[in-house]
Amino acid sequence: MTFKQTLWAAALLLILSGACFGQTLREYADRAGVLVGAAAEPRLLEEPEYASTLAREFNMLTAENALKWGAIRPTRERFNFEPGDRLVAFARAHKMKVRGHCLAWSEYNPRWLEKGSFTPEQMSELLREHITKVMRHYRGKVFAWDVVNEIFLADGSVESSVWYDQPGIGLKGKGTAYVEQALRWARAADPDAQLFYNDYDTEGINPKSDAVYAMVKDFRSRGVPIDGVGIQAHIVDLEAKDLATIEQNLARLAALGVQIHITELDVGLPSGAGQPDAAALKRQAEIYRRIADACLRQPKCTAFQTWGFTDKYTWIPGYTKGAKGAPLPFDAAYKKKPAYDALLEAFRRRR
Ligand code: XIL
Repeated sequence: MTFKQTLWAAALLLILSGACFGQTLREYADRAGVLVGAAAEPRLLEEPEYASTLAREFNMLTAENALKWGAIRPTRERFNFEPGDRLVAFARAHKMKVRGHCLAWSEYNPRWLEKGSFTPEQMSELLREHITKVMRHYRGKVFAWDVVNEIFLADGSVESSVWYDQPGIGLKGKGTAYVEQALRWARAADPDAQLFYNDYDTEGINPKSDAVYAMVKDFRSRGVPIDGVGIQAHIVDLEAKDLATIEQNLARLAALGVQIHITELDVGLPSGAGQPDAAALKRQAEIYRRIADACLRQPKCTAFQTWGFTDKYTWIPGYTKGAKGAPLPFDAAYKKKPAYDALLEAFRRRR
C-alpha cells in the first residue's frame, strides 16, 4: 500500500467505527436537533482529558462560575471578561453553543456590592448597567441567558435578596416586578438572545414550581420578554418523588409558549465508605434517564445540561460538606458511568 492509500484506509476505518459503535451523546443530540451541554470552568480547559471529553460529548457549554457577578465584576468599575472569553473561544473552536449564567442572583456577588450600602436607585442603575455591558460583550456569542436566578423560597414566596429588598432596585414588596425589570433591560441589551428564568427544586409540581408557572403566565399575558424557563435539577432525593409529576410540569410551561432547558442536572450519591456501589450507580442512572426522557419527549424542552460532567470536578462534595458525591455521568477518571449509558440510550431513542 502506498502512503496515500494507507491514509485513505485509516480515514475509512475511522468513519466506519464512528458509524457502528463509538457514538457520542453529542452525535445523537445533533441528530435529534436538541442541545446537550455541561457547565465548565475555563482553567480546566488546560487539562487535555477534560477538554477532549467536553468537546466530544457536548454541543453546548455554560460557565459554571465565570460569568457570575462575583467573577466578572471584581470592582465596581472593572469587568473581567477574560475567563468567559476563553470559554467562548473554546466553544467556537468546537462548534458548541454557549448558555449564559447568570445576570442577577442573590449569591456569588462581590463584597463591594453586598457591603456597599447602595440606595435602591444606585442598585437599579448598577443592575441595568451590568446586564447591558455583559450582554453586549457576549452578543452573538451567547445564545441564551439565565437573566434572573433563584428568586423563590420552597413555599413559593419571593426570597429576600440584594436585588429584591435588601435594598433592592426600588421594587421591594412588589413580588416579581424586579424580575420583569431585569428581563426588559436584557431584551434591550441584546434583542437576539433568549431570556430565561432559572431555579432549583422545580422539576415536578410543587408550591415553588407553581410560583414559577404563575410568574411566567403573568409575564406572557402582559408581553414581558421571557423565552424560557431553566429547571436546574440538582436532585437530592434518590426516591425522586418530585419527578413523578415532571411531565405535567413541563407540559404546563410548554403550553405558555416558552422553551424549557434542563440547566444544572446532577444526582449526588451518599458518600459512604469508598466508591458508590453498583446499586447506587443504577439508581443514579435511572434518575438521569427519567429526566432525559421527560425533556426529550417534550418538544419545547430544547436543551439538556449537566452541572459539570466528571466527578473529578463537582460542587456537590463541597456544598454538602462531604455527605454526597459522585453526581455526574463520568467518574473522576473520565470513565463512563451507568448514568452516561442511560443518557446515551435516551438520546439514541429520541432520533
Ligand atoms: C455553584 C457552583 O457550581 C460552585 O462552584 C460555586 O461555588 C457556587 O455556585 N445553582 C446555581 C449555580 O444556579 O450557579 C450554582 O453553582 C449551583 C446552584
